[in-house]
Amino acid sequence: MGTVIPVYSSTDYQFFKLHELPEKYLDECAELLSDEWSSKNPAGRRRILQSSSNDLPIHFALVEITSREAHGHIKLCRCLNNEYTFYAESVCVAKKVRGRGLGRIIMSFTERYIREHLAGNRICLQTLDAQGFYENIGYKKCTPVQFTKLVLAT
Ligand SMILES: CC(C)(COP(=O)(O)OP(=O)(O)OC[C@H]1O[C@@H](n2cnc3c(N)ncnc32)[C@H](O)[C@@H]1OP(=O)(O)O)[C@@H](O)C(=O)NCCC(=O)NCCS
Repeated sequence: MGTVIPVYSSTDYQFFKLHELPEKYLDECAELLSDEWSSKNPAGRRRILQSSSNDLPIHFALVEITSREAHGHIKLCRCLNNEYTFYAESVCVAKKVRGRGLGRIIMSFTERYIREHLAGNRICLQTLDAQGFYENIGYKKCTPVQFTKLVLAT
C-alpha cells in the first residue's frame, strides 16, 4: 500500500483514514455499505465517502493485513453544540467476517482516535438492530435529545 501509515493497528488489522487510501478501498467500503444498506444512489454514497477529511466528517476503513481487503467502515462527525462529543454512523463489518471481534476493534480505535486526536470524551450514535452489540461493548442508553431513534453513548 505504498507509504500510507495506519492510524492504529492490531495483530491482523490496520485502521486507516479512508481519504489517505487508494481508490480501491473507497470502492470496497461502498460495496460493504451497499451490501448492508442498499442505496438508490450509489454515486451519492461514493461522494459521501470521498468527502472524508481530517476536519470531519472522517471515514475510516479497517483493512485486513494479509488480504489487503477492507473489512469494516465507520464515519465520525462532530456534534452540534458539544465539542467533546462525536457522532458515529455507518458502522459496518463485512458480512463474511462478522462475529470475530472486528466491530469491537472499530469502536475501540474510534474511541481512541477521538481522545488522542480530537480531545473528545464521548461517542453518540443511534441504532435499532445493533443495540445488543453496543451494550455488549459498554455503551449505555442516554436521554434522547435531538434524535428520534434509540440513542447510546459511552
Ligand atoms: C453491528 C456490527 C458492527 C457488529 O460487528 P461484529 O464484528 O460482528 O461484532 P463483534 O464480533 O465485535 O462483537 C462484539 C461483541 O458484541 C456481541 N454482538 C455482536 N453483534 C451483536 C448483536 N447484534 N446483538 C448482541 N450482541 C452482539 C458479540 O457477540 C461480541 O460479544 P462478546 O465479546 O461477548 O463475544 C455488525 O454486525 C454489522 O456490521 N452489522 C450491520 C450494520 C449495523 O447494524 N451497524 C450498526 C448500526 S450503525
